[in-house]
Amino acid sequence: MDRNFLTVALPKGKLFGLSADLLGSVGFSADGLSEKSRKLIITNDEARLKFIITKTADVPTYVEYGAADIGIIGKDVIDEAGKDVYELFDLGFGACRLMMAVPADKSSRLEDYDNTRVATKFPHIAEKFFAAHGMQMEYIKLNGSIELAPGVGLSESIVDIVETGTSLRQNNLVEVVTIMHATARLIANRVSYKLKFDRINGLVTALEKIYRS
Ligand code: PRP
Repeated sequence: MDRNFLTVALPKGKLFGLSADLLGSVGFSADGLSEKSRKLIITNDEARLKFIITKTADVPTYVEYGAADIGIIGKDVIDEAGKDVYELFDLGFGACRLMMAVPADKSSRLEDYDNTRVATKFPHIAEKFFAAHGMQMEYIKLNGSIELAPGVGLSESIVDIVETGTSLRQNNLVEVVTIMHATARLIANRVSYKLKFDRINGLVTALEKIYRS
C-alpha cells in the first residue's frame, strides 16, 4: 500500500461518468481520466491521487485487498461480492433495483418457480432471497445480457437489475418481485481508512457538504 498516494477504484460502465464528475467537483481528478482510456492506472502526482479503472464486479475486490484505498460501486455489487469493506457514504445516484422477472405469458406467482432454473449475475443475493422463501433453485451464472436466458430456454426466470425497465419490456419479461433497491456507495479498505483517515474523511466531509447544499 502506497502511504503517500490515495488510490481510487472506479468501475467501467454506468457509474463511471457520475463518479468521476462527483469526485472532480471536490478536487479528486486526473488528466486523462476517462472510461475509454486503455490506460488502467491514471495518476495525478500533484494531488497524490491514483485512479484505477476496473470491471464493475471487481471494485470490492480491489478495495478489500487494499490495492485501492477507496472505490465507488453499487450496493448490489457490494452485497453480491460479500467482501469486507467499509461503506462510507450513500451517493444516491445509480438508483436501480434487483428483481426477479419471468416471461410475460407465464405465471407471475413466485411459488410456481420453486425448483426451476434462474439466470443471474447475482447468485449469492438470489440464493439468500429464495432460501428465505423456502425455495430451492438452480442458479445459472451469466455475465451479462441476462434478459436473453428465458427466451432461449436457458432458464425459467432471471434475477437482474432494472433501471428504466426497457430491457425487460423489449424482451417480454415482467417483474415478479423486487429483491433489493441499490444506489452507488463510497467504500474504503478498512486499513486504509485508519492509515489515511485524514484524506478519506476529508473526502467524506466534502461530499457531505455537496449533498447538504
Ligand atoms: C443492466 C442490467 C439490465 C439493464 C437494465 O445491464 O443487467 O440488463 O442494465 O437497465 P434498463 O432497465 O434501463 O433496461 P448492463 O447494461 O449493465 O449490461 P449487461 O447486460 O451486460 O450486464
